[in-house]
This record gives sequence, structure tokens and C-alpha cells, in this order.
Amino acid sequence: MNGENLPRAKSDMIHSINEFAVTEVADKVAGCASLYIYDTGLAEIRSLGIDPKMSIKGQGRQLVEHLLVKAKKLALSRVIVLTRVPDFFKKQGFSCCSKDSLPEKVMKDCELCLRKDNCDEVAMEFILRPRDNAVIPCKNVA
Ligand SMILES: CC(C)(COP(=O)(O)OP(=O)(O)OC[C@H]1O[C@@H](n2cnc3c(N)ncnc32)[C@H](O)[C@@H]1OP(=O)(O)O)[C@@H](O)C(=O)NCCC(=O)NCCS
Repeated sequence: MNGENLPRAKSDMIHSINEFAVTEVADKVAGCASLYIYDTGLAEIRSLGIDPKMSIKGQGRQLVEHLLVKAKKLALSRVIVLTRVPDFFKKQGFSCCSKDSLPEKVMKDCELCLRKDNCDEVAMEFILRPRDNAVIPCKNVA
């Protein structure tokens, strides 16, 4: 939508249909987003877009919240997004991270992007649970 999303082939969309969540307004799909799961406790929010003709606010937030709940239920530890609307994602609790911190396979889709040589996307993350080496709360028993 608005040319802000990475182009995806229809066949890819059909194969990925179970990754998608949608919002509906008056029985019509008004927005969508997908959660692509990597095999490392990591997932990526992709293809988030709301039909700009729809006046009902809050759809983007609801989709992101829905996908974060899904990621948490799947015991994932980190959800990332590459975005040109970082202020929107900041409002949803995401914070900026380095693109270098993303696995190489996350960046493979950049090959499809028209802006690959002039990338203006910001990498952001939402940490769902601390890594295993995080501080574990301990206290003396006496
Ligand atoms: C960005 C987008 C998904 C936001 O969806 P939306 O339904 O309009 O957003 P919401 O109504 O849920 O807004 C939630 C909050 O984010 C804010 N917000 C919305 N769009 C924003 C933007 N572009 N920049 C900063 N803040 C934004 C809203 O003001 C609202 O703030 P509040 O909680 O203080 O009231 C939608 O505008 C869109 O589809 N944009 C084009 C495609 C795109 O950029 N997708 C992201 C690809 S990663």
C-alpha cells in the first residue's frame, strides 16, 4: 500500500496465507500484516498495510498487537521489522536496532526491493523475552 511494502509475488502470498492477519471493515478486508517465523526464536512483521480509504483508526496497532501476541504464544523471543514508519512502530513498543544485528537471511529479501541501493528502511525490534543469559533473579533464603 502506498508503495511502502516490499513487492511479493501472488504465489508467495498464497503459500504464506497462514502467516497473515487481516482487519475487516463492513465485511471487507481493510488491512493486513504477516508474521514470518525464522528458525531462531526470531520473527519478522511483513506486509503491514491499511487501506488509506478506510477511516477507521487503530487498525495498524491492532494488527501489530495481534502478531506480537501470536509470537509470544509461540515462545519467540524477538520480533523485528524493517520499516519506513519508525515512529508508528515506536508507539507500538519497538525500538531501533542495527541492521547488522539481523541474520543474513532476513536481508535476503532486499534483493527484491526497488530501493535496495538506496535503502531508507529502519531496523526495529520488540523483545518478547530475555535471552537465556539474562540476569536471573536470586535471593538469599535466610
Ligand atoms: C503505517 C500504517 C500501518 C499505520 O496504520 P494505521 O491504522 O493508520 O495506524 P493506527 O491508527 O493504528 O495508529 C496507531 C498510532 O500510530 C500513529 N501513527 C499512525 N501512522 C503513523 C505514521 N506513519 N507515523 C507515526 N505515527 C503514526 C497514530 O497516530 C496512532 O497514534 P496514537 O496511539 O498516539 O493515537 C498505515 O498508515 C499504512 O498502511 N501505511 C502504508 C504502508 C506502510 O508504511 N506499512 C508499514 C510497512 S513496515
